[in-house]
Amino acid sequence: MKKRIVLLPGDGIGKEVIDSAKDVLSAIAEEFNHSFSFDTHEIGGAAIDQYGTPLPETTVEACTQADAVLLGAVGGPKWDNNPSHLRPERGLLGIRKALDLYANLRPIKGFKNLLHASPLKEEVVSGSDLLIVRELTGGLYFGTPSERRDNGNAVVDTLSYSRSEIERIVDKGFQAAQQRRGLLTSVDKANVLESSKLWREIVEEKKAQYPDVAVEHVLVDAAAMKLITNPTQFDVIVTENLFGDILSDEASVLTGSLGMLPSASLREDGVGLYEPVHGSAPDIAGKGVANPVAMILSTALMLRYSFKLDDEAKVIEDAVQSVLDAGFHTADLQVADGRLVGTFEMTKLIVDYIKSQNASKCIASCYF
Ligand code: IPM
Ligand code: MN
Repeated sequence: MKKRIVLLPGDGIGKEVIDSAKDVLSAIAEEFNHSFSFDTHEIGGAAIDQYGTPLPETTVEACTQADAVLLGAVGGPKWDNNPSHLRPERGLLGIRKALDLYANLRPIKGFKNLLHASPLKEEVVSGSDLLIVRELTGGLYFGTPSERRDNGNAVVDTLSYSRSEIERIVDKGFQAAQQRRGLLTSVDKANVLESSKLWREIVEEKKAQYPDVAVEHVLVDAAAMKLITNPTQFDVIVTENLFGDILSDEASVLTGSLGMLPSASLREDGVGLYEPVHGSAPDIAGKGVANPVAMILSTALMLRYSFKLDDEAKVIEDAVQSVLDAGFHTADLQVADGRLVGTFEMTKLIVDYIKSQNASKCIASCYF
């Protein structure tokens, strides 16, 4: 299979973990006879420095023509005092909107031998396996431009959704639940917000189309509590943009570290942008200690969702599992009796596993 992949390293540790993604994909290409070409472009703070804008036209153009996009992370203190339109985050929001990537899938599954790395009790997190389906191109993030009024003493942010924007993401939630354990939790704030009332109505209307899915509505504040007191009760959570942003960071504690969580941002036709849930971590940038697992697992999601390469995706996921099972971990995870490694070593271990795994498979199939 021949595919063109655009790499958007962005800022901070984004640059380091993108290198890991490239190494892993090169190994997959070699082992499975694919041809992946990589084309790197700027976004976020790096683009502001180089082009004076967080999302240059050339970047949008390249992403539009690519088969898939991998993004590291954006942001950093250097640009914190910039005006809103010149903040690195604008680049990320802009590319999500430009490619119409409305469905953000964030799977959260604890790795068995890392359960004790979570600050939560092992018996609470054990067995948790959920998927957050976050709406990504609407809501407060994209209201009529935020403004300051009254000499800067009052502010306005607008939360708006059209029926069709809600319908398409709710459909994604139902479909994901059908493919998993059949439980959809719709998270809203319908006791206060009009947008949530419409959201809840639409979920109720859609129920009939998905008779095999059980549906529950949970208010976002209660959902935040349940996520850490009883996470195993969840299968698929579908929710609007800001709630999904907050809940996915919260859910990351189930896995011991935000450095473990991948995400896929998809358009209707399967075009996608894949990025770790974590940010640019400026405090550890350039030190070679960042956890590349979230980025590497994001490449597995890319192979699965955009290229339909399930076997290849599975090899990457197995590689990560096996390296973690062997006790290797980066500094973000507190693992008793573990073996602390840096970004490069962790990546190499995963790459080596991919190569050895495939070689042994080939030997076995040749032999029998
Ligand atoms: C995320 C990030 C972004 C978001 C920021 C960097 C704009 O936190 O992908 O979760 O809020 O969506
Ligand atoms: Mn976030």
